[in-house]
Amino acid sequence: MVSYKELGLVNTREMFAKAIKGGYAIPAFNFNNMEQLQAIIKASAETKSPVILQVSKGARNYANQTLLRYMAQGAVEYAKELGWEHPQICLHLDHGDSFELCKSCVDFGFSSVMIDASSLPYEENIALTKKVVEYAHKYDVTVEAELGVLAGVEDEVSSAVSHYTKPEEVVDFATRTGCDSLAISIGTSHGAYKFTPEQCTRDPKTGKLVPPPLAFDVLDAIMEQLPGFPIVLHGSSSVPQEYVDMINKYGGKLPDAVGIPEEQLRKAAKSAVCKINIDSDSRLAFTAAVRKVFAEKPGEFDPRKYCGPARDLMEELYKHKIINVLGSNGHAE
Ligand code: G3H
Ligand code: 13P
Ligand code: ZN
Repeated sequence: MVSYKELGLVNTREMFAKAIKGGYAIPAFNFNNMEQLQAIIKASAETKSPVILQVSKGARNYANQTLLRYMAQGAVEYAKELGWEHPQICLHLDHGDSFELCKSCVDFGFSSVMIDASSLPYEENIALTKKVVEYAHKYDVTVEAELGVLAGVEDEVSSAVSHYTKPEEVVDFATRTGCDSLAISIGTSHGAYKFTPEQCTRDPKTGKLVPPPLAFDVLDAIMEQLPGFPIVLHGSSSVPQEYVDMINKYGGKLPDAVGIPEEQLRKAAKSAVCKINIDSDSRLAFTAAVRKVFAEKPGEFDPRKYCGPARDLMEELYKHKIINVLGSNGHAE
């Protein structure tokens, strides 16, 4: 058993309380490799932004859970080396799908876990979430739960359509489970294809797809039911056109990829939405940079020569999100 406190990590409790009060959101960036982690920590340290490092079940399988945990511990030291005196870094399990997985992360030094039982019937979601909360809280680890279903793929769970969170269920759910934050469904979804072309309109000037707005009325109704309760948005990548264009220009094929417009995320960040999850945008930045090097320098075979530019582009992306979208800069001096 390792406590996250020994690793210099923090849970989400104080982060979220401050974010709601301050009208900004904490970035939750997924990482699977060293370059992503370096870029996240550099961006957070330079902007003095609290940050949540997210590890999915897939990331644990890809990178090895022991290694990931030591990487997160190393990240705290790296942040200090970069001059961030009091780093506020949370290590969070993204989309945990069982009690055993959540327990293993709590025991292993994670400071926060998500139990995503949103695909189960309501009462089963409550029972499993409550069980995780009871265990995690013994170690002061915070728990994110989910109510409602996002369209797209949530690890092994996939759904063709989204089912918005029902505002009339949230008080009962939060009270009976004791969860610390609630991921809701208001029209976001995972991946780089968040809406079909049929769900969008086309900008007559540019011909680009314009996605439908998020269901802010549902968010408002949830906030009315649970005043001041921390709300989480998954599937919040914006799928920047410049990266999609770069990928397509250099041999990739991502037709009609579309994400959540930044102005909608800016609006959400000012509300009780205090954690915004971003993974796909980082994947796009990485891929765009690597494809560019491969296309322009076909003789290059030193991974540092293409992973380095990928890291730089991801760092730029993370800083942009922190400063221009979530507004979390300067909140972890
Ligand atoms: O919510 C999903 C995250 O983007 C993690 O994706 O399960 O492919 O690691 P992954
Ligand atoms: P995106 O696919 O929109 O980046 O969402 C990531 C996410 O929700 C991770 O849990
Ligand atoms: Zn997610």
